Amino acid sequence: MASGVTVAVVGATGAAGQTTLKILEERKFPVRELRAFASERSVGKTVSFRGDDIRLARVEPSAFKGVDIAICSAGTAQAKEYAPMIAKAGAVVVDKSNAWRMDPTVPLVVPEINAHAVKSHRGIVASPNCTTIVTVMPLKPLHDAARIRRVVATSYQSVSGAGVNGIADLKTQTLAWARGEAMVPTHFTHRIAFNLIPAIDKFAADGYTGEEWKLVNETRKILEAPDLLVSPTTVRVPVFTCHSVAVNVETEEKLTAERARELFGRFPGLKVWDDPAQQRWPMPVDVEGQDDCWVGRVREDLSHPRALNFWVVGDQLRKGAATNAVQIAELLLGT
Ligand code: A2P
Repeated sequence: MASGVTVAVVGATGAAGQTTLKILEERKFPVRELRAFASERSVGKTVSFRGDDIRLARVEPSAFKGVDIAICSAGTAQAKEYAPMIAKAGAVVVDKSNAWRMDPTVPLVVPEINAHAVKSHRGIVASPNCTTIVTVMPLKPLHDAARIRRVVATSYQSVSGAGVNGIADLKTQTLAWARGEAMVPTHFTHRIAFNLIPAIDKFAADGYTGEEWKLVNETRKILEAPDLLVSPTTVRVPVFTCHSVAVNVETEEKLTAERARELFGRFPGLKVWDDPAQQRWPMPVDVEGQDDCWVGRVREDLSHPRALNFWVVGDQLRKGAATNAVQIAELLLGT
């Protein structure tokens, strides 16, 4: 595609939107024209793309005339309204919010896992929740090799998963702590600096949170395994970037830790770093800025003959959001 395509980035001032602009540049996505959108309060300000200042525009149908692909990360409420409107204007929407993921007519895609699903789109393709992406990447090769029966996953999710306001909350509270001042939450429901918050999103009547239900339902949809048992706990931690997940997997066939490491190491988008003798395994500080998800602490479950434990870390602004969305856009182009 020599002349390139017209791309819209909606939510271009946000944490995921800014990373999307960076990744479109890095991956040399064939952008002929870039249009950037944010909320009413940002209209007229600019964002930078390939060295140019792009003026932020208002989201309205006429602004999407001629757009080929729109990558949206403006939030769930906005995506419910915007995605059908943008699709009607003729663009294919890659939406990073929770609005469309479980709609049976909308493919939910992690390109390394279910690229084929993108073909069935009717104008909207959903990109999964950031924790789901980081968790499902290592599940796929194990599922293909030995059929997973049950997954128990506990997440350690960074504040940038909650967007620019989450980043600001941890920064402000940390500075307040250094000055000996009170740490007052402005975005999270509790203090996040030097603390853990074991609840992300609203609670359902069953005691699980929205974030936990996303992990259950989206994992089943992506792996095309509607009966897969998933037991989730999601936790917000005082880390700026990268989500980490401690995972226990029960399989139908026995997998040794060595075989699992081999399967992880061969899977595109996954890297293994598992060297207890050298005290080396993936941590958020190592993985930040990378597109691959990193797996370590692979070991056989002491309490079950066909289960494994492992630890996975992914940069949730990149593979968990922007990189995955740009990879979907690449699939749409057929590149
Ligand atoms: P703005 O900067 O004008 O508020 P994050 O997830 O990091 O909080 O970012 C959310 C993104 O979604 C921002 O770019 C934000 O723009 C944008 N946004 C929020 N509300 C709307 C809206 N009603 N229409 C378009 N973009 C929106």
